[in-house]
This record gives sequence, structure tokens and C-alpha cells, in this order.
Amino acid sequence: LLDVTEKFQGISFPGHLHTKDSLEFAVSFLFKDTDVLIVSYPKSGTTWMQEIVTLVSSRGDPQFSRTVPNWARAPWLEHYYCAAVLEASSPERRIITTHLPYHLLGPALQGSKAKVIYVSRNPKDVAVSFYHFHKIANFLPEPGSFHEFLDHFLEVYYGSWFDHIKGWTSHTEAINNLLHITYEQMSLDLHGTIKKVSSFLQCPLVEDEVNNCVKHSSFSSMRDNNMINYTLVPKDIMDHSKGSFMRKGEIGDWKNMFTEEQNQYFESVFTSKMQGCTLEFVWE
Ligand code: PPS
Repeated sequence: LLDVTEKFQGISFPGHLHTKDSLEFAVSFLFKDTDVLIVSYPKSGTTWMQEIVTLVSSRGDPQFSRTVPNWARAPWLEHYYCAAVLEASSPERRIITTHLPYHLLGPALQGSKAKVIYVSRNPKDVAVSFYHFHKIANFLPEPGSFHEFLDHFLEVYYGSWFDHIKGWTSHTEAINNLLHITYEQMSLDLHGTIKKVSSFLQCPLVEDEVNNCVKHSSFSSMRDNNMINYTLVPKDIMDHSKGSFMRKGEIGDWKNMFTEEQNQYFESVFTSKMQGCTLEFVWE
């Protein structure tokens, strides 16, 4: 069952890719104004946005996204290999990813002109996706039953989904350039989302280039791309015989998982923790 052991500033991270040093490195990171930072709570559309930003930066040409694994072209700031990856490659525009909450990373971004893309997803689908991911990711604890997992998720798991979304969406005045994109927007209007991202990154694309980005960031393209579907990861870390990283890619899968009772419980916690928050979510 979920076990909270090692903590960094009150939050427990999986030991597999995080170390105390790597977390220290992340929270004191020196951002460049040309950096693009993708921020998300796990299972909110991180990988999808990594692919979109890569494709937009290469004007729809899939060569780079088909030959370099996502963790090497958009490394997670808090993972131990990040410093080495950033040093080894010196692209014009660094694409960096993070799951860290605002209260840990916000200070490092103060005054920076780095472009931040915050990706969120309706939390019922996040919980379901995260639950399934725990079964294939051997570096994460056994989730137990969905009911048990939901309890943890609604409390403090991974530093709390509630704190993550409230932190990153309520400090927009402190971050110069922040674009908030939802998983549901990507799902309902991928073309429009890609245009939004390209304009935010000041990387205008012609229609054919946008269409190529759409094509190569579709669920089926990404599911078949070894550089993004995590099949390159050894079995002892991610066991794909137990399920796929690119699992369903849908809005509303929570309905297949939540009982009526779990839904009511979720709704009551959600209502109390999101009080005063005006964000609207697409649930189905
Ligand atoms: S992680 O581990 O935090 O990086 O996971 P993350 O990438 O944030 O979330 C994984 C979920 O995103 C889905 N996904 C997609 N859905 C639709 N279209 C595309 N192109 C796509 N790419 C990734 C992936 O399937 C996971 O969701 P679930 O609901 O589990 O299928």
C-alpha cells in the first residue's frame, strides 16, 4: 500500500528519479528567459504537452520527436539526470518539464521571463489515470484498491492536487508568462490548442505545419512512437505487461471507475478544498 517515507519540504517523491540533491537543484534553478517550462500535476497531459512543444518548435517536423526520448528533449527539472541532460545539449530554447508545486518552484521563477505552460486535467480522470499508472510503474508504491488510492489522492498525495492547481493558477501576477492549457482543451480542440501554444511561444506556423503538429501529437501517433510511449524503459521500472502508459487518452474515464459513493465523497472534498476558486472543469 502507499507508503509515505522520504520527504522533501513536506512532500514525498518517488525515490527512483528524485534525490535530495536533484530537488535542491530544481528549487534553486537559474531559468533563462528563453526557457519553456511545462508544469503539471502527474497524469494531467504532461507527455502530450512535451510532444506538442517539441513539434511546434520544429515546425511540425516529427524527426526530433521520433529520434530523441521525451526525457532527453524535455527533462524533468527535479529528476537527477536533468543537469547532465541540459549540459549535454545546448538548444536555442530549452524545454523543461516539472511536476513541482508552485510553493517549491515559484521563487526560482520570480522575475524570470521564461515561458510557463501549466497543464491541468479534471481531477477525477487524473486520479484514475494515476491509479492505473501505479500498477505499471514499479518505482511507485502499490496503490491498493481504488478506494484506498482515492483517499490518498484527496489528501496529500504528491503534494496534493488541490495545492498544485491553486498554487500555479493563483499566482499569475508573479509569473510573467504563463499559459494555462487543459487536457480537455487539447482533447476537444487539438488544432486550436497547437495554434495557441505556437503563438504563446512566438513561433508562428503556417496551416500545413499546424496540421503536421496535430497529426504527430494524436493519441495513436504518440502511442506508436517509442520515444514517447515509455516502451524504452526497462521492465523492472515500468512493466508494460500490466498496462500501457498511453492507456486510454479520454475525457471522462472516471465514470467507469468511480462508484456513486466515491463520486459523492469526491464532490464533497472537491467543493470544500476548491472554495473561492473560479476555475471550471470539463468532466465528460
Ligand atoms: S506523467 O506520468 O505525469 O508524465 O503522465 P501524463 O503524461 O501527465 O499523463 C498521462 C495521460 O495522458 C494521456 N495522453 C494522451 N491522451 C490523449 N491524447 C494524447 N496524445 C495523449 N498523450 C498522453 C495518457 O494516455 C494518460 O492518460 P490515461 O487516462 O491514463 O489514458
